[in-house]
Amino acid sequence: MRIEKFRCENLESGCVTDNGQPTFSYILSSDKPTDIKIAEIEVDGQRFPANDCTAVKYSGKPLKPFTDYTAKLYIQTSDSEELCSSVNFSTGRMGASWHGKWITDASYKFTQPKTSPVPLTFRKKFKPAKAIKSAKLYCTAFGIYESELNGQKIGDDFFAPGFTSYAHQLQYQVYDITKQIKDENTLIFTVGGGWAVGAFVFTRKNRVTADRQALLAELRFIYEDGTSEVISSDETWEVTRQGKVRFAEFYDGEIFDARVDENNIKWINAASEKVKIKPEIVATYGSLVKSHEVFKPISVKKAASGELIYDFGQNLAGVVRFKVNGKSGQKIVVRHAEVLTETGELNTVFLRSAKCRLEYICRDGVQQYMPRMTYMGYRYVGVSGVEEKDLEIESVALYSELGENGTFECSNQLINKLQSNICWSGKSNFVDIPTDCPQRDERMGWTGDIAIFAQTACYNFDMARFLNKWLRDVRSEQTRHGGIPNTVPVQGYGFPATMPKKAIAFWGDACVFVPWAMYLAYGDIGVLKANYQTMKKYVKACKFWANIGIGKHRYIWSDIPSMQFGDWVAPDVSQMGQWQARCKWTGTASLAATSGLLSKIAAVLGNEKDAKYYAKINSKVCDAYVSILTDRNGKLKNEFQTAYVLPLYFNMFPEDQRKKAAENLVILIEKNNYCIGTGFPGTPYILFALADNGYADVAYKMLLNTKCPSWLYEVKVGATTVWERWDGLDEDGVCRIGNDGTGGMISFNHYGFGSVGDFLYRRILGVEPTSGGYKTFCVAPVPGGDLTYAKGEVQTPYGKISCSWSVENGEFKLKIFVPFGTEAQVVLPNGTREKAGLGEHEYSVKL
Ligand code: BGC
Repeated sequence: MRIEKFRCENLESGCVTDNGQPTFSYILSSDKPTDIKIAEIEVDGQRFPANDCTAVKYSGKPLKPFTDYTAKLYIQTSDSEELCSSVNFSTGRMGASWHGKWITDASYKFTQPKTSPVPLTFRKKFKPAKAIKSAKLYCTAFGIYESELNGQKIGDDFFAPGFTSYAHQLQYQVYDITKQIKDENTLIFTVGGGWAVGAFVFTRKNRVTADRQALLAELRFIYEDGTSEVISSDETWEVTRQGKVRFAEFYDGEIFDARVDENNIKWINAASEKVKIKPEIVATYGSLVKSHEVFKPISVKKAASGELIYDFGQNLAGVVRFKVNGKSGQKIVVRHAEVLTETGELNTVFLRSAKCRLEYICRDGVQQYMPRMTYMGYRYVGVSGVEEKDLEIESVALYSELGENGTFECSNQLINKLQSNICWSGKSNFVDIPTDCPQRDERMGWTGDIAIFAQTACYNFDMARFLNKWLRDVRSEQTRHGGIPNTVPVQGYGFPATMPKKAIAFWGDACVFVPWAMYLAYGDIGVLKANYQTMKKYVKACKFWANIGIGKHRYIWSDIPSMQFGDWVAPDVSQMGQWQARCKWTGTASLAATSGLLSKIAAVLGNEKDAKYYAKINSKVCDAYVSILTDRNGKLKNEFQTAYVLPLYFNMFPEDQRKKAAENLVILIEKNNYCIGTGFPGTPYILFALADNGYADVAYKMLLNTKCPSWLYEVKVGATTVWERWDGLDEDGVCRIGNDGTGGMISFNHYGFGSVGDFLYRRILGVEPTSGGYKTFCVAPVPGGDLTYAKGEVQTPYGKISCSWSVENGEFKLKIFVPFGTEAQVVLPNGTREKAGLGEHEYSVKL
């Protein structure tokens, strides 16, 4: 037996936490089934039980703040094998009050609307009194900051302190700078407007959190002789508005003047700032943004406009990094776009008001630049102000630190590209919070997008810290009557936060769908517990809207269409109003889905009374849908794909009508040439609705279709990410969409429709959890289409499941690996069922 992983708060190293009861998890592997006799964790000389490997809550003696700890995991098996592993973690401030003050530039009156403030640069020079044993920096800001000690960047984070619901919670970071300390030191902080002060959301509201940027910092030294000292932000720190970063904003970009010499500009003393809000200031508990993959240009061309157009071959969220041989005062401008125009210029129409522009003013000589206070969604850049020969440029992907959780591959290369595109849209929209898109004037925490993508995300990435952080904001921002704002954090745009009883189907559902997806993937029941009250309040708010009718109509969620998103971006109708007009069907199905899930969740939490209560609501809603919206014989009175898909997937039809409904869906799909007609709510589930009702062949025809709108059409015409609109590019790879009544919803990097990734794992590969964390799971591959093989891996809290199948000469062969502590139910294409325990298993059947 081996201990494969031992983690604190989902981190294998570097965890600094303010949680007085941090959570530990571990993975064991073994060649043979073995019982665990003892599982214990020891911290600071005290042991506590650690039986549930998915989540062990610390239960030793109270943890002290500012302390480094080692946790040791002891395992003893029934054959007396003994194992041990350890993980280091530190506690942060744990609520200790800050010696430092919030400081700012008191002379800065930032009042301009719809733009972002000038970045403030703070400076503190210091000399440590004695030889240093350890030096740690604790810091946060209203705005986003970048810190440097003696000219060297501190840490590798971008956009710290991260984006949270600032009125409630704000993260601070802890950096160990012991090795960077010299005899004489200059500490610099550049604080841009970021989300807190800068223009954000498409209305470009600014100063939502604070009127100008502010910084809070503490440098804590422990000297070799055991004494300690704290240097904290106060009026002795200096501040300037003349630093190198002249302008910074997520949407409009950055202006950087490399000529600025920090020793030669005017500094004034910082002043203490009266902050408007008093959030809880907590050590980072999410996943901060870091730099990841780097792409070199695959082509460069001079456009008629004179701009050098670089193609990096991959659409992503990130920034360019360049090296240039420049002259003092030379101005280099870099613009960004996802697509080109027919004549090979950048097409920036769909960025709407976002300028997505960098301006770099050179000093003399060879120099390097990479913006630190903005990011863009792009594949192409247009560069002016420099000759091609003097410039070396790369594209750097920026996204939150997320581990890989799964892999999927099959014999169809277009599907493999789709899988890659899904992952890239995931990465591009996991920039501290789950966003809708990384390029235009949004990049907001739209709840509906992650509601439908969460399961796919949890297959591909280790989302636990990232989503737990966001869910804390969801809980904070829920309205008193249960509505969930449709963007979280609200930050200037939070409808229906302003209308207390308003709930928005599928968007608000994120508060149920996301924790459920996480529980299934990672097994930590804590996520259900933490969000349970929020889910209950939300479903109550949804029910309020449904209850407005009479009789069975009391379970139909009829709403004012302009207050719902309905079948958002469905391609079978073309206007926003038509998507919204479908809100009766999507709303009612959403209420069935959330109440049904809540019933399951209540059962997992051992609350039988609630389980029954929500099951009853669910059955009433299902009955109302069938009685009022269908002919009670499986035919919708008003037919469209989503109206069939949702009740099929969420199990809303009585058994006898189910078959008919699936048949009718198939007729619609055939009429539509196997093209997609579903919007956000239907797309994740359409292939399940088919494959699970005897139409796997139709599901494959849709999946493999390359006619527009379809997943593989995008791939065929050159997509490297998943799009918001299926017809973004014409067959020849050119975008010709103008103003067509869809409000400029033409992003080429939206993960919503990538939610089909769930089908790749759950049906094509066939690996699906049947209890939290895959303690029990199913392997039931659905071969079909032209696929001759599929293979993949899924990381579970018990270890990695691997699965591969092939079809050759009518023979289906399956090979799986079942991790220690789990059990699989294998279902072969001929219907044979078998249980499989630890280890490798092979099967083969004639098709
Ligand atoms: C976003 C979507 C979002 C939608 C809801 C759009 O602008 O990009 O993905 O969910 O608005 O209205």
